Amino acid sequence: MSNLSAIIVGANSALSQQLAQQLHQQGITLGLMAADPNALQPLQQQLGCKLVGLDIRDPQQCQQSFSELWQQLDGAALVIINTAATGLDLELPWSLEQSIIDVNVQGFAAIANVAFKQMVQQQYGQIGCFTSIAGERGGPQVAFHASKAFQQNYLQGLRLHAQRLKLPITITDLRLGYLDKMQGRGNRLWAASLEKIAGQALHGLQRGKSQLYLTKRWRLAAAISNALPEFIYNRRRYK
Ligand SMILES: NC(=O)c1ccc[n+]([C@@H]2O[C@H](COP(=O)([O-])OP(=O)(O)OC[C@H]3O[C@@H](n4cnc5c(N)ncnc54)[C@H](OP(=O)(O)O)[C@@H]3O)[C@@H](O)[C@H]2O)c1
Repeated sequence: MSNLSAIIVGANSALSQQLAQQLHQQGITLGLMAADPNALQPLQQQLGCKLVGLDIRDPQQCQQSFSELWQQLDGAALVIINTAATGLDLELPWSLEQSIIDVNVQGFAAIANVAFKQMVQQQYGQIGCFTSIAGERGGPQVAFHASKAFQQNYLQGLRLHAQRLKLPITITDLRLGYLDKMQGRGNRLWAASLEKIAGQALHGLQRGKSQLYLTKRWRLAAAISNALPEFIYNRRRYK
């Protein structure tokens, strides 16, 4: 890719910053949307990118900010959605469930919706969203698992619309397994580094994949989990 623009939504996260670095190295012009833009000023200066604030809990604000950034960039070939809320509390407090639904369902849908419509006008583009293998079955983080299932289903729906409109708009579901945020000190068997996840994600996006497991071994883990009958799956121990 060259002389192209990409937007990363949720740019404060370490994974987003790694994606930004790798895209910049490929000559892509970047627009970043971040909850805390001030914290990203050094990165903005380094990459020479555009940077706007984002509150993913406010669908109107985030759609408007997205559209403004889109205008500034004169469109974008790629939009990566990497905003998320998560948390595990076995008491299932509603405040936690609600915040996960606000960010991962309402906020995600607001951004995916506006990005897709801009791409329809532009007549091409690609949306990549980090979901999770957690979306494939219910789990202890009840709202998180359900929100990721929503995202996967929503992305599939957008893919259908792109086909119906006969437009080259690619929708890529990036199913992340486990990111090693401890940079080498986490579980090495299942966790992968930021560099590896970002590299595999961009490679899959460039190949126009619809769905990608990150890292690849999580495809097998997902297949095994999906094959387990309910009476075994529901007896999993997680605490
Ligand atoms: N980490 C894992 O092992 C793992 C496993 C499976 C799937 N995933 C999925 O992969 C993706 C990336 O994971 P991650 O660990 O890199 O996530 P993360 O570090 O928690 O990043 C989430 C991003 O969302 C932003 N965000 C949250 N609430 C927001 C709000 N109200 N307004 C604006 N931005 C908001 C955060 O901004 P702030 O930093 O400013 O809060 C951050 O940039 C997520 O979709 C996650 O669900 C992660």
